[in-house]
Amino acid sequence: MTLEEEIAALKRKHHALILAHNYTRPEVQDLADFVGDSLELSRKAAECHAPVIVFCGVRFMAETAKILSPESIVILPNPNAGCPMADMASPELVARYRREHPDTLIVAYVNTTAETKTEVDICCTSGNAEKLIAGLPEDRKILFLPDANLGANLNNRLGRKMALWPGFCPTHNKIFPEHILAAKEKHPGAIVLVHPECTPAVTALADHALSTGGMLKFVRQSDAKEFVIGTECGIVHRMRKENPDKHFYPLEPAVLCPNMKKITEEDVLFALRNLSPRIELDDNMRKRALAPIERMLEVIP
Ligand code: 13P
Ligand code: SF4
Repeated sequence: MTLEEEIAALKRKHHALILAHNYTRPEVQDLADFVGDSLELSRKAAECHAPVIVFCGVRFMAETAKILSPESIVILPNPNAGCPMADMASPELVARYRREHPDTLIVAYVNTTAETKTEVDICCTSGNAEKLIAGLPEDRKILFLPDANLGANLNNRLGRKMALWPGFCPTHNKIFPEHILAAKEKHPGAIVLVHPECTPAVTALADHALSTGGMLKFVRQSDAKEFVIGTECGIVHRMRKENPDKHFYPLEPAVLCPNMKKITEEDVLFALRNLSPRIELDDNMRKRALAPIERMLEVIP
């Protein structure tokens, strides 16, 4: 039996669902039942009722799946796949900020740990942040955490003055304006898409700053044939697969999230053979972390 056949057999045996983020390795994406961005994967986890979810992504995403689907066994095939940005806002520091600023609404990017989510008012993802924040009262003081770039890009787009936590994505911070300018020179006819985790200096040079799901939708619907892609290079696999007649140019040097790449096909096989390593959350903590995610899904269903 090939590795893929064994994975398929174990998946059937356990009625397991494999979810994968758009940045995972191409071969992992090809094994998955569903590939998507953070918001799409959260929605899928909330509605799937699968007894076993194998979550190919980083820890905060698998935790979100467990928060939304507590009855499921949720497995993160490589337990070391974390998100450094999520770890930049500790629950203790966020709790201290709240004590010191009791009238501030705390909006957390979903890239936060489950424990940090227990200290915030509402979550958002890059796919719904603009709509969600635009709907908040203009005179309300807001802290946006942990991504200062995403927060600054939202402030610029919406004319807001949210306070920004000093977190960042080490992968997207490696994209400089020079990379975009060089790509534009090399591919003058291409549309430039970047992720809003890039610095405002980078997003200012792009045609659009979109979530990974937003980028995939954009390229599908666009009549253009060439796109420069300013985000983690794993997304290009799906773009090429879904749009064989279009050309995608990831930035040089290829932008890579080492954590997303930690999950291999072998890890998925091990996970299904052993139903491990699982995400386990204290139930009280899980319920407190659920509240800001539910608020997000209520505001932007
Ligand atoms: P998306 O929600 O756009 O997929 O982004 C998640 C992420 O971690 C980007 O670095
Ligand atoms: Fe975290 Fe950045 Fe990797 Fe996304 S790309 S998972 S924000 S480190």
